[in-house]
Amino acid sequence: MIKAITGTKDILPSDISKWKFVESIIDKTMQGFNYKEVRTPVFEETALFSRGIGEATDIVSKEMYTFLDKGGTSLTLRPEMTASVVRAFIEHSLAAKQNLNKLYYIAPMFRQERPQAGRLRQFHQFGAEAIGSTSPALDSEIIIMAYDILKSFGLKNILVKINSLGVPESRENYKAKLREYLQGKVAGLSEDSRKRFETNILRIFDSKEECDQKIMQDAPLLIDYLDEESLKHFESVKALLKQAGVPFEIDPKLVRGLDYYTKTTFEIVSGSVGSQSALCGGGRYDLLVEQLGGKPTPGVGFAAGIERILLACENENSLNIPVESIDLYIVRLDNGLQPNVFDLGLHFRRKGITSEFDYLERSVKAQMREANKLNARYVIILGGEEYQKGELVLKNMLDGTQENVSLDNMEYIANKFAG
Ligand code: HAM
Repeated sequence: MIKAITGTKDILPSDISKWKFVESIIDKTMQGFNYKEVRTPVFEETALFSRGIGEATDIVSKEMYTFLDKGGTSLTLRPEMTASVVRAFIEHSLAAKQNLNKLYYIAPMFRQERPQAGRLRQFHQFGAEAIGSTSPALDSEIIIMAYDILKSFGLKNILVKINSLGVPESRENYKAKLREYLQGKVAGLSEDSRKRFETNILRIFDSKEECDQKIMQDAPLLIDYLDEESLKHFESVKALLKQAGVPFEIDPKLVRGLDYYTKTTFEIVSGSVGSQSALCGGGRYDLLVEQLGGKPTPGVGFAAGIERILLACENENSLNIPVESIDLYIVRLDNGLQPNVFDLGLHFRRKGITSEFDYLERSVKAQMREANKLNARYVIILGGEEYQKGELVLKNMLDGTQENVSLDNMEYIANKFAG
């Protein structure tokens, strides 16, 4: 039997109400902050991601689904959206239409990681990118929006961590200091971190290995080497977060796994999901547009993993998903009325009233059972004496009352669902 690929998941009808509910909160919140939805292709030229995210990152060096198409072009299934959104922003000259573009997305991403709880190979992110302003108000807005959405899912056990990575000059100065500090200690680092020492030294802070953590405990911190401008920016972001009532913690070791960040970075982590605890991450990327071939344009954004959030919600039992129901179930008392039921069902369906009836020649009792299972608000019973008199029975399933309605007066029933 052919099965789904490891690390991918079917989202079955029984899960869809949960997904739709979550997506509706995302749409509503993003639109409330005046972000506009954007959709980009699932695959792109590989160079977009290697240049955008950085050759030395884990994502680019280990995790991308990259393949040659029949024409010999190297393509990659997107591992994240920021590079794609920036590409679309440049390609369609969005800056010419609007100084500040506030964009959001809900879309599948692909990373060839070792699957475990909360870590998949095809997963879904929602996220936002505000491109066109250096204002710290936008950094704060992005963090607030991410926080508000997670709160709307009822999550309590979450923590906002923020940091500033400064501008490249101050970061390079700092990296030299860090290199100096680690110079005599390299032999004590894990194999991965020894590699990072050469290629991506900041990422050593991300290591979960005890030997690395011990060494990094006393390492100099980037925040102590920030330039004036980045410090001022960071102060404003913090002040606005305080003003908005978003609790946060400064984590000077938060370096993030993508190379495009400048100044603010942040993550929101959950205490309810084990080791894959980052529900969301983001930050400012003032050089990315230029790096990808556009005019220098600052940007800031975030992305959050929906599967990981759903796991946290499950563990906190926090999602209040509305119970699924239908408007109308049509029961027939004898099978000869099947064409009439079909007709009547179609009449209501075409008015946008969710209607269902039996296709399996089931007994009246079984049809009523089905109506209950589907949480029908009303049941129509067609047949018997009433039908002879040109009427049907309409039963209100919430209060159990029933009434006879003339077959000529379907408007009366439709009006029950108006508004
Ligand atoms: P990221 O931190 O790589 O950032 O991913 C954001 C979120 O996606 C993570 O916090 C996590 O919840 C989820 N995620 C990542 N990998 C997986 C996986 N294998 N399985 C399940 N969930 C996963 C970015 O992608 C940046 N583009 C964020 C950003 C937007 N920065 C600026 N704008």
